[in-house]
Amino acid sequence: MNQPRRAPGSVRARKDLLAAAAEAAARGRGPYSTLKVGAAVLSAAGRIYRGCNVENAAYPLGACAETAAIAAGVLAEGDAFRIAAAAVWAQDADGTPLPVSPCGGCRQRISELAAGPDVLVHFCWPGTEPCSMRIDDLLPCAFALEGR
Ligand code: THU
Repeated sequence: MNQPRRAPGSVRARKDLLAAAAEAAARGRGPYSTLKVGAAVLSAAGRIYRGCNVENAAYPLGACAETAAIAAGVLAEGDAFRIAAAAVWAQDADGTPLPVSPCGGCRQRISELAAGPDVLVHFCWPGTEPCSMRIDDLLPCAFALEGR
């Protein structure tokens, strides 16, 4: 897929990433929570990868949208894959957008592959739409094996 390179922090990049996440959310599978969630990550190499949530009848097996988007990035770019920016989008079964930020586990997932602490994560939040936060603010004092 040919995609133009954009500065991760630009307004246009944020709009593109949120739009990609919203597109992915429309394909989300959330019959139990009724949430359809999409995620999009912009890699440091300038490519956008998307993922959606997939819920299972055996509830704990369900996977978050961010997990799928990150897996797509790793699959395509291998060890070099780093996240330059990320977006998450959630909607209900009718397509109404819902304010949702990445869950704790996904904050860890993004943090471990983020290009740096200033990587921005975009999402909808009441009163501040869209909201953009640094990964280091979303997950301060993140766990890292290098911290040993
Ligand atoms: N979900 C995500 O996809 N990403 C998050 O960061 C938060 C939660 C999904 C998982 C599940 O399918 C639904 O939202 C409700 O938890």
